[in-house]
Amino acid sequence: MHSAAAETKAVTTESGKMAPTLQELAKPSDVKIESNNDKFAERYARQYNSWKETSKSTEIVPAIEVDPRMIVLWGGYAFSKEYNKPRGHFYAVTDVRNILRTGAPMDANGGPQPMACWTCKGPDVARLIAEWGEEGYFNGKWAKGGAEVVNSIGCADCHDTTSQDFAEGKPALRIARPHVLRALDAISKDFPQLDKTDKRAAVCANCHVEYYFDKNVTNNVVFPWFNGVDVDGIEKYYDDIEFKDWVHSVSKAPMLKAQHPDYETWSLGIHGKNGVTCIDCHMPKVQGADGKVYTDHKIGNPFDAFESTCANCHDQSKEKLQSIVASRKHDIKDVMIKLEDQLVRAHFEAKAAWDAGATEAEMKDALQAIRHAQWRWDYSAAGHGGHIHAPDVLLKVIASGLDRAADARAKLAAILVKHGVQTPVQVPDISTAELAWKAIGIDIEKERADKEKFLKEVVPQWNKEALDKGLILEAPPAK
Ligand code: HEC
Ligand code: HEC
Ligand code: HEC
Ligand code: HEC
Repeated sequence: MHSAAAETKAVTTESGKMAPTLQELAKPSDVKIESNNDKFAERYARQYNSWKETSKSTEIVPAIEVDPRMIVLWGGYAFSKEYNKPRGHFYAVTDVRNILRTGAPMDANGGPQPMACWTCKGPDVARLIAEWGEEGYFNGKWAKGGAEVVNSIGCADCHDTTSQDFAEGKPALRIARPHVLRALDAISKDFPQLDKTDKRAAVCANCHVEYYFDKNVTNNVVFPWFNGVDVDGIEKYYDDIEFKDWVHSVSKAPMLKAQHPDYETWSLGIHGKNGVTCIDCHMPKVQGADGKVYTDHKIGNPFDAFESTCANCHDQSKEKLQSIVASRKHDIKDVMIKLEDQLVRAHFEAKAAWDAGATEAEMKDALQAIRHAQWRWDYSAAGHGGHIHAPDVLLKVIASGLDRAADARAKLAAILVKHGVQTPVQVPDISTAELAWKAIGIDIEKERADKEKFLKEVVPQWNKEALDKGLILEAPPAK
């Protein structure tokens, strides 16, 4: 699939740090990780019960069916098959099994995705990295971890559950994923040195971040923060190492896929700059029936707990703040869609240019502009809650994306004229997901049938193995 021997391109970064080599990956260690969340139910009843409330956020919103432009934007990449809005942490394992992106591997070596796809799903990941080392964990296909990563996001993802502090009921926040510790270090946030506030936000940075899989090493997860966490710094890093997630099936542009850069955008926004962390809004301190104060672990929409979140710092009414957030969401969505429309056109214009005989040399700059424009769209679109976390940042990023898209289309227009192509180039009807899948050649019925078979035949074996090994007391929910 890829050349294991390829060298990581030597470049200079602002932090002076680079992605690790194979030799630098963590070796197996004797760190003991208790990944079974249910084992904490009795001793930490308040935290456990509120953590379990994340199971009440059940709704699955199929984002690409709501907005089929995304199917075209991700043409040739698995995200065009299925992409849903996030829901409760309780469902992370269930959802990565069920999503069409992970395919239907009928054995441990089958399927399209690498092991790295488990990395933000739960505490078994930290356990496996300790047991197998990073190379042992990241090496191989996703299905290799099917009977191992079975507990959803929980206690040992954020706490050193074996520490004396934790035994005494203190938080003992901990990051157990070596690639996250390295990334924080690259932005001068060496975890053990951080104060309480920075540690609180950093535990969410385990997962709510932009990352890539380093194909030159062992498909291990790396956060591209070596030039900073803003859209330009990350783009420069990817360009310098000549990284691409995939080649677009319509335009042949070398694309980047952004993954939920929530920590990044939050840190650049007004709350992040003022030291208001994810925890202040998503995990407030609350009082139990017995009068004891504890941290509410039902991570969800902060407006549902307004009195213990926003109202701690703001005098405005819930309705007032909610309407401000809603109107920002609306405004951002509005310009985001404009950028999507420009990108859809650019992809099909590039195809028309190729079809008319344009050369690689002629196309190179236009394709690079498409890459940059779509990266900027995705950096703002893939983040969740960016309209509250950093609305000003998002608007600026989208504006710069519109600028890059205009540049791409101007370059393409010149190429099209040169090759005698009539403009405007026809864009197929993509007004529904079915039409968009057809336009980019995805047989969605087949994808769904394969997944059904996998869920019926393979997943029950994974559950049985995990139950037999004592990793879980109960299988993850099927839906
Ligand atoms: C996504 C991260 C995350 C997960 C998952 C998580 N916690 Fe926490 N936990 C926190 C944070 C953040 C705090 C508050 C830290 C602070 O106050 O500085 C906290 C606080 C605590 C505390 C200290 C007392 C308190 O209530 O403030 C205990 C005990 C605790 N959690 C237990 C658990 C248990 C048990 C689980 C699993 C059922 C769990 N946590 C899952 C992040 C997490
Ligand atoms: C181990 C990885 C991991 C950690 C740590 C983590 N998250 Fe998540 N988070 C996820 C994943 C994965 C989802 C989507 C789950 C799904 O849809 O199945 C998610 C979903 C969410 C959601 C959507 C919930 C809903 O009901 O719609 C919020 C909000 C959220 N996370 C906030 C946080 C905050 C705040 C922290 C830090 C305290 C945090 N997360 C820590 C991986 C993580
Ligand atoms: C100032 C309060 C605040 C802070 C700080 C904050 N959030 Fe949020 N976040 C919100 C609100 C409010 C929403 C829901 C917005 C809405 O209702 O449209 C949200 C939405 C989200 C969502 C999307 C949930 C969904 O279902 O779509 C995720 C994920 C998330 N936040 C994660 C984080 C992470 C991770 C951090 C820290 C890096 C963080 N938030 C910091 C207030 C905050
Ligand atoms: C721990 C304190 C704290 C919490 C909790 C908090 N905020 Fe803020 N908020 C701030 C601070 C500090 C500022 C910056 C004030 C300034 O610069 O004048 C701010 C600014 C704002 C602004 C105006 C800045 C802008 O974006 O233009 C809005 C709107 C806002 N907060 C909404 C919310 C909402 C909604 C919540 C709950 C989901 C919330 N905040 C929770 C402290 C907090």
